[in-house]
Amino acid sequence: MKSYSSGLIATLAVCQSALSSPTYQTTHEHPSNGICTDYKISNTLNFEELQWAVPPFKNNYDVVDLYSRMANRNPSEFITFTSSPKNVTKTYEIAATFCRPKKGTSGNDTTVLVATHGAGFDKRYWASTYKPEKYSFVYHALEAGYPIFYYDRAGVGASTRTPNYSALPQPQIQLLARMISSIREGKYTDSVKASKVVVVGHSLGSFISTGILSNYPDLVEGAVLTGIAFPNMTDITNILGKSGLTTFGGRLISSLPDSTLPSNADTFDSSYLFFGDRYSYAQAFLHHPQTEEEMAVADYSFRITQPYAVSEFASLGMGGVASPDFKGKVLMTAGQYDLLCGGDCYTTYKYGMQTTGVFTNPDVTVKEFVQAGAGHGTLYQEDNGMYEAVFDFLKTV
Ligand SMILES: *[C@@H]1O[C@H](CO)[C@@H](O)[C@H](O)[C@H]1NC(C)=O
Ligand SMILES: *[C@@H]1O[C@H](CO)[C@@H](O)[C@H](O)[C@H]1NC(C)=O
Ligand SMILES: *[C@@H]1O[C@H](CO)[C@@H](O)[C@H](O)[C@H]1NC(C)=O
Ligand SMILES: *[C@@H]1O[C@H](CO)[C@@H](O)[C@H](O)[C@H]1NC(C)=O
Repeated sequence: MKSYSSGLIATLAVCQSALSSPTYQTTHEHPSNGICTDYKISNTLNFEELQWAVPPFKNNYDVVDLYSRMANRNPSEFITFTSSPKNVTKTYEIAATFCRPKKGTSGNDTTVLVATHGAGFDKRYWASTYKPEKYSFVYHALEAGYPIFYYDRAGVGASTRTPNYSALPQPQIQLLARMISSIREGKYTDSVKASKVVVVGHSLGSFISTGILSNYPDLVEGAVLTGIAFPNMTDITNILGKSGLTTFGGRLISSLPDSTLPSNADTFDSSYLFFGDRYSYAQAFLHHPQTEEEMAVADYSFRITQPYAVSEFASLGMGGVASPDFKGKVLMTAGQYDLLCGGDCYTTYKYGMQTTGVFTNPDVTVKEFVQAGAGHGTLYQEDNGMYEAVFDFLKTV
């Protein structure tokens, strides 16, 4: 505890001034160790679209009420979709980046990683420009010799918006499946011809990636699922995990001052919410930033956040979770304090349904790794064993 108070005060003074005027990053910089190409990928889908049953939000009382009902122990409090889906045809344009390693003997590797970010971010989640050698998944992948394709999910970043409570898992899984098929045909990968594809996800992106294993079990060889857990049916997490959503502190964009919003905030309608409280954000994603470095990471990562669609939360996992036909390799990782595990992923992983309810094929391989000290955003953790776990795992795919 030496010089705790004076150090803390000095640190707070530095951080308060930085925190009081967030400047959101709008550029998508390519990593220094990659040869990267940006793509705009258009796909038209026909699908049965779930219809949102809740009146559009008028104010933040409506928002908080919905969140509270998500956490209610009585499921009848929480009905968000009508019982009649509609057939729709929609065109989506996806903004993606593909990078291959610039140098190194393994630059010829042809296992392509396809990364899907979670709610509250866009593709920059994977490619921190703050100390990339520490916090950028893309940088680490390229150093390890893996080409990587990462994209803004439909709805955010530079991809097509999905307005009016229509951001849903099913079209996103279909879009991902189409992109993976194209990647397998040699599209969107510069000069690389993929021999294997591994989906990589974070949080909601891990559920969408699991949707691939569930609906298209032969499309990929492996999956790296971060920020995910499959608690058993009696795990208390099934209730508390929902209340964990309140730490996202969702608030109507229109209710927040411009100075606290990303520069593209006015391109989202009321079905998109933004983190109302950056401290709650930091707690959920980074677990109690305390050192100057941890606060700097909290500050940086907050500056690359995006609004997120409430309909995506309400439909988490509805695109398919059980993957009995998937025979490849899976690595599941989460931070020790991830709220998806009710704040204790060691326990939720120990008793979880990953091999009893989700990946049940006799030929599947499931590995698990819990990152000590981390919250929901495992990439942004100092002294991170997760990267090693991921790249050790990938050697087995
Ligand atoms: C959507 O179209 C398919 C194929 O034409 C049909 O089988 C299905 O019943 C339709 N669903 C709805 C909700 O209309
Ligand atoms: C990649 O290149 C290195 C050195 O150039 C070589 O030793 C290795 O066998 C190659 N790997 C593949 C998969 O082609
Ligand atoms: C959004 O949905 C409402 C019904 O919930 C409808 O009246 C409105 O036209 C829709 N807006 C758009 C842009 O589709
Ligand atoms: C479910 O998980 C909890 C831990 O959250 C554990 O205490 C309980 O024994 C598990 N139940 C079963 C049937 O495995």
